[in-house]
Amino acid sequence: MSIVGKHIVITGGTSGIGLELVKQLYDGNEISVIGRPSPRLQDLSARFERLTIIEADLADQQAVEMAADQLIKSGKRIDVLINNAAVQFTPHFLSDDFRYETIRREIDVNLTSICTLIYLLMPSLLQKEPTLILNINSGLGLVPKTSSAIYCATKGGLNLFSQSLRHQLEDTNIDVKQAFLPLVDTAMTQGRGSAKISPQEAAAAIIRGMAKKGATIDIGKVKLLRLIQRLSPSLAQRIMKAS
Ligand SMILES: NC(=O)c1ccc[n+]([C@@H]2O[C@H](COP(=O)([O-])OP(=O)(O)OC[C@H]3O[C@@H](n4cnc5c(N)ncnc54)[C@H](OP(=O)(O)O)[C@@H]3O)[C@@H](O)[C@H]2O)c1
Repeated sequence: MSIVGKHIVITGGTSGIGLELVKQLYDGNEISVIGRPSPRLQDLSARFERLTIIEADLADQQAVEMAADQLIKSGKRIDVLINNAAVQFTPHFLSDDFRYETIRREIDVNLTSICTLIYLLMPSLLQKEPTLILNINSGLGLVPKTSSAIYCATKGGLNLFSQSLRHQLEDTNIDVKQAFLPLVDTAMTQGRGSAKISPQEAAAAIIRGMAKKGATIDIGKVKLLRLIQRLSPSLAQRIMKAS
């Protein structure tokens, strides 16, 4: 699909990869951002004047419903839905600072809201014209690391959900893709990891992949991870366990 002249809906465009996607897709497209109310969201709105801002905390089911309703009522076709927003809480289950209240929030933002939003936006997605649902995933959706067990579970779940949804929608106008990212230098990975790619590189690779055919966009080291996983699943497990 050529990514010009499209109406693109992006969740979480206020920082990191989402912000870069907004910057790189803004010229020549119409962008709507679904984000939780915050000064960062206000800044985004002030910086990109043609942007449509839809306020929603994606951990809140009612807010997700209201965001979808707002988009449907606008009457605009959605050409591309990019499910980008996510959170990652890092404490181990046995750490003193592990807060079990975060379990539900992490699952709701990273997985439940995506499934719900896609379902509720179907009337704007099911059209005659080609439409793309792009779910932003991670190498951790293929092979888990030791920390961030809930995050890994949500990304693994997103991987299977996306594959199944792609099957369900194969006779429609809707293409379902996933972008699998390596470590990217954003707020999410601040203070940990090395050899990260920049959010600019990540967003550019995602956009290049959107224009191509295929169910997955593997970026950077994810290509190597997928190869190792195919040749030796246990080696892939060992590498990621230590990451
Ligand atoms: N960074 C990496 O190494 C990496 C690697 C693989 C995959 N990914 C994936 O890439 C995507 C973007 O991550 P990032 O690294 O760019 O992270 P980031 O800089 O922390 O950005 C996360 C975005 O999600 C939004 N968000 C968080 N909770 C929200 C909520 N409850 N409701 C609405 N929006 C919410 C944030 O908005 P606020 O301004 O409200 O916080 C922000 O715009 C995620 O899906 C992540 O899993 C990242």
